[in-house]
Amino acid sequence: ALPQPRDALGRPLRDLRLSVIDACNFRCPYCMPADRIPDDHGLDAASRLSFDEIETLVRGFVRLGVRKLRLTGGEPLLRKGLPDLVERLARIDGLDDLALTTNGSLLAAHAQALRDAGLHRITVSLDALSPEMFSAMSGGRGHIDAVLAGIAAAQAAGFAPIKLNCVVQRGVNEGEVLPLAAFAREHGHVLRFIEYMDVGTCNGWRRENVVPSAELRDRLHARWPLRALDPNYRGEVAARYAYHDGAGEVGFVSSVTVPFCGDCHRARVSADGTLYTCLFAADGQPLRALVRQGEDVVVDALAQAWTRRADRYSEIRGAATASRRHVEMYLVGG
Ligand code: GTP
Ligand code: 5AD
Ligand code: SF4
Ligand code: SF4
Repeated sequence: ALPQPRDALGRPLRDLRLSVIDACNFRCPYCMPADRIPDDHGLDAASRLSFDEIETLVRGFVRLGVRKLRLTGGEPLLRKGLPDLVERLARIDGLDDLALTTNGSLLAAHAQALRDAGLHRITVSLDALSPEMFSAMSGGRGHIDAVLAGIAAAQAAGFAPIKLNCVVQRGVNEGEVLPLAAFAREHGHVLRFIEYMDVGTCNGWRRENVVPSAELRDRLHARWPLRALDPNYRGEVAARYAYHDGAGEVGFVSSVTVPFCGDCHRARVSADGTLYTCLFAADGQPLRALVRQGEDVVVDALAQAWTRRADRYSEIRGAATASRRHVEMYLVGG
C-alpha cells in the first residue's frame, strides 16, 4: 500500500467531488446568473474527461486514501451515459460511498438506471417548494413538479434516505424553511440547510445575505423540538439534529459562521480534469495530460499536490490575505 499523504495542515485525503459536466439547465442567481452565463454554456464534449480518464483518475485517488466519491456538475444528469460511468466507478475496490448531487429536474427519468448501476446515495438541491419561488431560485428554468417527481422516483427506486440541500438567503427564501422541513419530515428525507457562501465570482455575496444556521435551528426548534446528534464520521460537513418526535433528522452546513476547514478531507476535480484543493481556490492544477500517462503518474502528481495543500479559506474569510478570486461553483459542484 502507498503511504497516505497528509497535507501541510496534517489532513488526509478522503473525499473526492468530481464534476462530470459544467453545463446546467438551471440558472440559479447565486451560482450561474442568466445575465452573466450564456444559455449554451458548457464545455464542448471534447474538453471533458472521458469515462476512461475518469476511471483512471478515481482509481488513483482511491490509492491515496479516497473512500468517498460524489459526482457533481453543473447538472450531472446532463452528461450522456452517466449510469454507465456510475457502473464503472461502483466496481472500484476501496470506494465505500458513491453519491450524486443533482438539481433533480431530470431525475425522474434516470433514478432507476442510477440505482441499477450501483449508485449509493442521492442529494437533491431544493431551495423552495412554492412554484413561484422555486422558479425564481432556478433563474426561471426549473419546475418544482419535475423536481418533486424526481425525488419520488429516486425514493421508489430504493434510494433512502434522500438528502435535500437548501441554501437560505436573507429576505429571499426564508419563508420556505418551515414548509421544506415539513415536506422532508413527511417523506422521510434528510433536509440540510446550507449557509449562503461567497463561492465563485457571480453572486455579489454579502454577509448580510447569510442566514446563520443557529437562527434557522432556533426557528425549527420552536416548531419541532430538536436534539443534537453526534457526527456520523470525523469531518462531517453538516451538524445533525434529530426531531424529538421521531420524524427523522435535519442538518446545517455552516461554513460561514462555523468554518470546518480543520477536518477538510475533500479534493475537487472539474469536468475538464482540473484539481482544486478548496471550494474557494482561485486556481487549480490540470490533471488531464497526467491521467493520459496512466494511473501511476497521476498518483505521484496527486500525492505531491496534496502534500503542498494549505487551504483553509472559510477560517480566514475576511482577512486581508484571503483571495477574492474563486473557482466558479458550477465548475466544482459545491
Ligand atoms: P454527505 O456525503 O451526505 O455527508 O454530504 P456532504 O455534506 O459532504 O455533501 P453535500 O454535497 O450535500 O454538501 C452540502 C453543501 O455543503 C455543498 O453543496 C457545499 O455547498 C457545502 N460544502 C461541502 N463541502 C464543503 C467544503 O469542503 N467547504 C465548504 N466551504 N463548503 C462545503
Ligand atoms: N452558497 C451555498 N451553496 C451554494 N450552492 C451553490 N451556490 C451556493 C452558494 N453561493 C449549492 C447548491 C447545491 C450545491 C451543489 O451547492 O444549492 O445544493
Ligand atoms: Fe445549476 Fe446547481 Fe448552479 Fe443551480 S446551483 S445553476 S442547479 S449548478
Ligand atoms: Fe475545505 Fe476550503 Fe471548505 Fe475550508 S473552505 S472546508 S478548506 S473546501
